[in-house]
Amino acid sequence: MPAVLQEGAPVDGAYHERTGPRHVAIIMDGNGRWAQARGKPRLYGHHAGGQRVREIMEACPDLGIKYLTVFAFSTENWKRTQAEVSGLMSLFRRYITREAQTLVDHGVRVRFIGDRIRLDETLVRLMDELELLTADNDLLHLTVALNYGGRDEVARATKRLAREVAAGRLDPERVDAETLARYLDTYVLPDPDLVIRTSGEARISNFLLWQSAYSEYEFVDTLWPDFTRAEFSRLVANFARRERRFGAVPT
Ligand code: IPE
Ligand code: IPE
Ligand code: MG
Repeated sequence: MPAVLQEGAPVDGAYHERTGPRHVAIIMDGNGRWAQARGKPRLYGHHAGGQRVREIMEACPDLGIKYLTVFAFSTENWKRTQAEVSGLMSLFRRYITREAQTLVDHGVRVRFIGDRIRLDETLVRLMDELELLTADNDLLHLTVALNYGGRDEVARATKRLAREVAAGRLDPERVDAETLARYLDTYVLPDPDLVIRTSGEARISNFLLWQSAYSEYEFVDTLWPDFTRAEFSRLVANFARRERRFGAVPT
C-alpha cells in the first residue's frame, strides 16, 4: 500500500467539486454460491472471500477512497446453520489475529459497527484490541459491520436517545435527523457515497439503511471471491460520471 494518500476529498458536502467517492461500502455477497459451484462447503467460500478484502483495501488510497466499510455478518445471518455461524466466527477471530500487524503497518484504522452483545467474548476482545491498536492511523478508515443490521442500529440508537430524554438531558423538541445520527454506530463516519453489492442480488439486506439515503448503488453479478481490484476501480470510475442531485435541480 502506498504511504501517501491521494485524498482529493473536499470539505463536507462539496461533492460537486470532486469526482471519486470518499466512502465506499460493500455488501460482500456470493461466497456460498462460489463454493457450491466448486463442489466445496460454504465455509471454503467464506475463506476465499476473506482473502479478497485485503486487495480491495489496498486499492483504496490510490483511488482517493478514505473510508471503506464492509458487511461481514448481518443480524439476520444467525439464521444459518450453527456450523456455518461458528465457522464464520472463528474465521473472524483468525482474520483479526493474522491481519492486525499488517493493518497497523499500513496505516489502516479499523472500527467495528453492529451489536457486540451476541458475539463471543474472545472475538469482542480481539475487536476492541484491534480498534485500540489502530486508533492513531489515518490513511484508510476500514469499518467492519459485524452482527450489524440497519434496523437494529436505529433501534439501539433510539433507545440511547430515549434514555437521555428520560434523564432530562435532552429536549425531545430539539431531536432532528442530525441528533439521531449522533447515536448511530457510524456517528464518526461520513455517509457512504457509493454502495456496491456483489453476486447479482439487487437488495440492501438491512445494510446502512439510514446512512445510504443518498448513496449511489452498484449491483454487479460477480461473486465476492471473484471480485478484483480492476472491477472495483471500474465501479469507482463509473461513480465519477454520475450526477448527484440530493433533491435539488442541477445548475
Ligand atoms: C456473503 O456470502 C457472506 C455472508 C453473508 C457472511 P453468502 O454466504 O451470503 O453467499 P451466498 O449468497 O449464499 O452465495
Ligand atoms: C448480506 O448478505 C449480509 C452480508 C453480506 C454479510 P445475505 O446473503 O445475508 O443477504 P440475503 O439473505 O441474500 O438478503
Ligand atoms: Mg448471500
